[in-house]
Amino acid sequence: MAPRVGCFLLAVLISASCEVITSSNPMCTEDFHAIQVAGVTLSIPGPPGLPYATVRDFLFGEVRCQINWVREDTFQNHHQLNTIVLTGNPLIFMAETSLTGPKLLKHLFLTQTGISNLEFIPVHNLENLESLHLGSNHISSINLPENFPTQNLKVLDFQNNAIHYISSKDINGLEQATNLSLNFNGNDIKGIEPGAFNSKIFQSLKFGGSLNLSVILKGLQNSTIQSLWLGTFEDTDDQDLTSATFEGLCDMAVESINLQKHHFDGFSPSTFRCFTRLQELDLTAAHLKGLPSGIEGMNSLKKLVLSANSFDQLCQINAASFPSLTDLYVKGNMKKLDLGARCLEKLENLQKLDLSHSDIEASDCCNLQLKNLPHLQYLNLSYNEPLGLEDQAFKECPRLELLDLAFTHLLVKAAQSPFQNLHLLRVLNLSHCLLDTSNRHLLEGLLDLRHLNVQGNHFQDGSISKTNLLQTVSSLEILILSSCDLLSIDQQAFHSLGNMSHLDLSHNSLTGDSMDAFSPLKGLYLNLAANNIRIIPPHLLPALSQQSTINLSHNPLDCTCSNIHFITWYKENLHKLEGSEETVCANPPPLRGVKLSDVKLSCGLTVSGNRKKYSRFYTLFPHPHLTPNSWAQRHPSFKAKRGGTDEWVPKPSER
Ligand SMILES: *[C@@H]1O[C@H](CO)[C@@H](O)[C@H](O)[C@H]1NC(C)=O
Ligand SMILES: *[C@@H]1O[C@H](CO)[C@@H](O)[C@H](O)[C@H]1NC(C)=O
Ligand SMILES: *[C@@H]1O[C@H](CO)[C@@H](O)[C@H](O)[C@H]1NC(C)=O
Ligand SMILES: *[C@@H]1O[C@H](CO)[C@@H](O)[C@H](O)[C@H]1NC(C)=O
Ligand SMILES: *[C@@H]1O[C@H](CO)[C@@H](O)[C@H](O)[C@H]1NC(C)=O
Ligand SMILES: *[C@@H]1O[C@H](CO)[C@@H](O)[C@H](O)[C@H]1NC(C)=O
Ligand SMILES: *[C@@H]1O[C@H](CO)[C@@H](O)[C@H](O)[C@H]1NC(C)=O
Repeated sequence: MAPRVGCFLLAVLISASCEVITSSNPMCTEDFHAIQVAGVTLSIPGPPGLPYATVRDFLFGEVRCQINWVREDTFQNHHQLNTIVLTGNPLIFMAETSLTGPKLLKHLFLTQTGISNLEFIPVHNLENLESLHLGSNHISSINLPENFPTQNLKVLDFQNNAIHYISSKDINGLEQATNLSLNFNGNDIKGIEPGAFNSKIFQSLKFGGSLNLSVILKGLQNSTIQSLWLGTFEDTDDQDLTSATFEGLCDMAVESINLQKHHFDGFSPSTFRCFTRLQELDLTAAHLKGLPSGIEGMNSLKKLVLSANSFDQLCQINAASFPSLTDLYVKGNMKKLDLGARCLEKLENLQKLDLSHSDIEASDCCNLQLKNLPHLQYLNLSYNEPLGLEDQAFKECPRLELLDLAFTHLLVKAAQSPFQNLHLLRVLNLSHCLLDTSNRHLLEGLLDLRHLNVQGNHFQDGSISKTNLLQTVSSLEILILSSCDLLSIDQQAFHSLGNMSHLDLSHNSLTGDSMDAFSPLKGLYLNLAANNIRIIPPHLLPALSQQSTINLSHNPLDCTCSNIHFITWYKENLHKLEGSEETVCANPPPLRGVKLSDVKLSCGLTVSGNRKKYSRFYTLFPHPHLTPNSWAQRHPSFKAKRGGTDEWVPKPSER
């Protein structure tokens, strides 16, 4: 009864299983099982219970079944299938009807399957195909079979093949595909037939890694391309770019161009002669020390990416040449970047500015440096060197909505707010800024602040006191105070933060006594993970009860009767608690590591004269070694509770 045993498919099938050929890969001989990924049921080979990461691996062809043949009607019974992944299988033959069956086959992955000729792909049932992935094969011509249905094709991926020449016939075969994204990365294109792209329209074309860019730009004459990717890779031995390289660009309509990692042979205004209709230009890591002054006609450019270059001073980008810019990225500059003065003042329309990771240092920031940016909404100055912030340091950009200063040491000059005028600011990241948190005016003027991150800053004496810098930001909804070495929080500390919905206090050293601070707040997502909470006294439990989700994982929780109120509360409120797998007892030693939700309590009450001395004798049952009765035997003064193991006698004061 051998014949039906077999590799239950090819890397992935959606809602399907099928038998193909035997394989030595054990993953291929297991039954299929269904897994939900993003609402789609995948049937994948392998034992049930594979984690999501593994499912993704399947999708990317990590499991190779050594499939060589795909027979007639393999998918006949799988009408719902919309994706077939055959990645990584050394295909020798696909039958004419091997892909029939699925009603709406949209995505076909034939990456790394050894294909050298497109005639190999059976054309039956591909009418709905939207993406065809043919990367890492031995294809030299993109000439699709005559009757290949391309009307719905949106993505055609030929990366890392052996395509060196593109003819008019090749491109005409794609005529019916509108808005196509075509990927030729990793093929060294050495020739394009003149006129091949005449009047053609593409969503995106990628020619990354081609050595002679003039060949490409000439070849694309009269085409219309939304996004043209001409970057190069670390290991390509490409030629330096000159203004002649870009001549072809004058004869085509391109909206966005990427030239990352290229070398330019002298950068003069004429280099940009054919760039004037561009809306986006990406010159990441293009070994630039500056851009020439006198560039003309770049009035359409909206987005300029100059990250990972080597500017000494921001004025070297000659920003005035790009007066319509809305987005400017100068992040990860390879040298210490001096912001200079007024370098961006002509960029009146700038909305987004990213200067992160650029070694920027300034003692009096930022009004001279960021002069005249009335429309700036997003400013990223994270991961820089110390910045001295003057009073109203961002006066020149009053419309800021997001300001990221994370990991930049801030020296606030006056005892005033450097953010005073930022009435529209909604997100402020001050994590790891070495803030002086005792400055109660620090956040004054932030009338609409919703999201504040102060992670990794320190508070005096490890305590947030009654009067503190948060009092002026009453519109806060999200507050991150993790890793601030906090020992305590005053019970009034958050009283003005009535709109808060998310409070992260994880990775501090708070104890149960600080729970009071949450009593003015309701419906919070409250993260108290990795603190020093051992016991939460009963009178502080209501402050937790009124929150919606609480994370108490990784605290040294006490599972003795001293904490019985809390443990009882915990079990009654499990639906509100996240991370309960990691919410475990630290004490007593025999219960160390036991999940709080599994602990069963039976706490007795001493009757040794004075009932109020009860707590000394509280203990926990079932104890791994003791039963109530054996405990009672050892401690004569203890009276075991009426037999039940889950019962507990409340404090006399609470009766
Ligand atoms: C073209 O495709 C892109 C993404 O592939 C999509 O965002 C855009 O809306 C499409 N344009 C048209 C006109 O279909
Ligand atoms: C581009 O279009 C122009 C005007 O329609 C035409 O004269 C020229 O021959 C075309 N170029 C190519 C390479 O087809
Ligand atoms: C690049 O191709 C063009 C033809 O489009 C040719 O004139 C030029 O010499 C080539 N460059 C090099 C360095 O081979
Ligand atoms: C700011 O830049 C840093 C580093 O480039 C990045 O990690 C962070 O996400 C950026 N901030 C925002 C709000 O996008
Ligand atoms: C700062 O916080 C914002 C908002 O949470 C976030 O988008 C950004 O990535 C953070 N910045 C860094 C450097 O982590
Ligand atoms: C709290 O939220 C409400 C509703 O969104 C809003 O009307 C109110 O102004 C907010 N309070 C503060 C102090 O921002
Ligand atoms: C609880 O909080 C910790 C620390 O922030 C986090 O690592 C963990 O993922 C959270 N647990 C859940 C279930 O989200």
